[in-house]
Amino acid sequence: MKIGVFDSGVGGLTVLHALLRQAPQADYIYLGDTARLPYGSKSQATIARYAVSSAHFLVEEQGAEFLVIACNTASALALDAIKGAVSVPVLGVVETGANAARAASASGDVLVIATDATVQSHAYSAACRERGLRTYEKACPLLVPLVEEGWITHPVTQEVLRIYLSELKQEAGAMQMSPDTLVLGCTHYPLLRDQIAHIVPDLKVIDSACVTAEQVASTIHDKKATGNGTRRFFATDSIEKFRAMGTRFLGEAIDGVTLVDLGG
Ligand code: DGL
Repeated sequence: MKIGVFDSGVGGLTVLHALLRQAPQADYIYLGDTARLPYGSKSQATIARYAVSSAHFLVEEQGAEFLVIACNTASALALDAIKGAVSVPVLGVVETGANAARAASASGDVLVIATDATVQSHAYSAACRERGLRTYEKACPLLVPLVEEGWITHPVTQEVLRIYLSELKQEAGAMQMSPDTLVLGCTHYPLLRDQIAHIVPDLKVIDSACVTAEQVASTIHDKKATGNGTRRFFATDSIEKFRAMGTRFLGEAIDGVTLVDLGG
C-alpha cells in the first residue's frame, strides 16, 4: 500500500517517524510544501488551495492510495476540501488528536496549543466538544520558527515556552477550567515535547503522531495491505534544507529528496 504523507514542511516527519514504527512495511511518499510554508498564518482559502494541490500531486502523480494529512493547520482548515478533491481515503490529525485527548483526560478539560490559523478555525474545540470535552486553545506563533531554526533546547525557546504555557494556564483558570491534558496541535511541537512536559508536569501531553500512526496501521492491517517498505521524499523548496532539517524531525538520515514545483 502506498501512503502519501503531507505537511506544509518538515513537521509532518514526526508523524512519518511514528508511521515507520507502526507500519514499516508500507510504501511512503512524503511531501513537504516548504516553498509555501508557513500555512499557519494564512487564510483558509489559501491553505485549502495549497493543500489540495499537494494532495493532487501525491494521489494523481505519485499514486498514493491513502493520504495522511500530517499538518494540523491543513487538517483543521482544509480536510473537507482535500476529501472532495481526491478519490482515496484521507486521515487528518485533528480527529485523531481529539480521540487521544478524550482517552487521556479525566477532568474533561483540555488545553490545545497550535498555529494562529488552527486556533482561529476552532477545529479542535469542535472535535473535542463532540467527544464531551471542554477546550481552551492558544496560538503560539513563535514556536514554529524557533523549531525551524533548530533552537530546541535554546534558552530563548525555554523562555518563550514558559511564557506561553503560563499564559495558557492563567487564561484557562480564569474560565474556571481544570485542565489535565495538553494537546500539541501542530506537527512542529513534538520536538519540544520534553521541554513542554518539564514546564507543565501536571498535564498529560498529547501529540497526535502516535495515535494517527496507530489508526493507519490498523487500516493497513484490516485491508491486509503490504508493501516493499520504500520511502520517497519530495519538497517544494531547497532539498538541502529539507534533508538537513528533516533528519532532525524524522530521527534518521533522509536520502534522495526530489524538488517539485507545485506553483504559487
Ligand atoms: N505544519 C503546521 C501545523 O502542523 C505548522 C507549520 C505551518 O504553519 O505551516 O500546523
